[in-house]
Amino acid sequence: MSNISLRRIRRTSVGMLCYSALLICTLAACGDAGNKEGAKVLIKFPHVTAPGTPKGRAADRFRDLVHERLGDRVTVEVYPSGQLMNDDDSIDALAFGEVQMIAVSLSKFDRLTKKFQIFDLPFMFQDLSAVERFQESPSGDALLSAMTESGLTGVAFWHNGMKQFSGPEPMTTPDAADGLKFRIMESDVLQAQILQVGGNPQKMAYGEVYQALQTGAVDAQENTWSNIYSSKFYEVQDYITQSNHGYLGYLVLVNTKFWSSIPDDVRAELRSILVETSDWANAQAAEINQDALEKIKASGRTEVVALTPEQIKQWQDIMRPVWDQFEDSIGSDVIAAAQQVPR
Ligand code: SIN
Repeated sequence: MSNISLRRIRRTSVGMLCYSALLICTLAACGDAGNKEGAKVLIKFPHVTAPGTPKGRAADRFRDLVHERLGDRVTVEVYPSGQLMNDDDSIDALAFGEVQMIAVSLSKFDRLTKKFQIFDLPFMFQDLSAVERFQESPSGDALLSAMTESGLTGVAFWHNGMKQFSGPEPMTTPDAADGLKFRIMESDVLQAQILQVGGNPQKMAYGEVYQALQTGAVDAQENTWSNIYSSKFYEVQDYITQSNHGYLGYLVLVNTKFWSSIPDDVRAELRSILVETSDWANAQAAEINQDALEKIKASGRTEVVALTPEQIKQWQDIMRPVWDQFEDSIGSDVIAAAQQVPR
């Protein structure tokens, strides 16, 4: 069956259940790139952001270090800016062995696992350091294996940054969101978050957001400074409110069967390069976002609005019920662990 047919099946609600079963069954037969001893390994790595973003830089750094350390034994081909496929399709492509590595927003795995919903809870993490402490804790580290039953293995967490709201008005208080159509990522928590403030959430692929904002198909959106800058959302949004209300980060993911088929010494080197890349990239993510913020301010194309502590408290209070709504699917133990990570 072709992947186009598979994607069509998945997009019908009736086909969704059959698709999930088919995905898991078919995984047993896919993903093995036939990496016998001495054979060359090709890692196709598509992603949707621009090369200068935190993820873009991390993917390029990984490719360059692999070239430096593993020479001809492994080639990494990075396809940025959604030029090969969108995120949703890349998860299918990974499962079916069409690509070998992806780094998809943690908000986009709802159809395979609910465990990453912790990262979407509004105001769960104060900053990237708080996220990092959780990801390095035993509960956070266990999340790398959340999709092993689907034949997918997490090999790293990469940061983008904290999300900001943009729209036709400053969103200093939650009532400004009332009635606005918001583009959101494919996440049930983000959907609930927007409903909680009276907005109308629209799940949409990243590559479609600029045009949707430009044509007025949606009024508003939430994203990091680096994404708002590199995808030019600031050119078509009158105000960006410095809300820092949520986290956007990535799971770097491989097809387990493919990964196990790589010779042990090569896989060990790839793992060590991933650790080095992640440390390097995560250390500069906040700075890349700060730089994007400065460039957006300097552009004069939009107005950046700061929030007072009282206004932030209003946002936190109105969104807090979302935590209770998802407590059962995320697990109260995971929520407690994310909160208890020492500051
Ligand atoms: C990304 O950073 O990979 C895209 C996030 C989004 O879909 O808004």
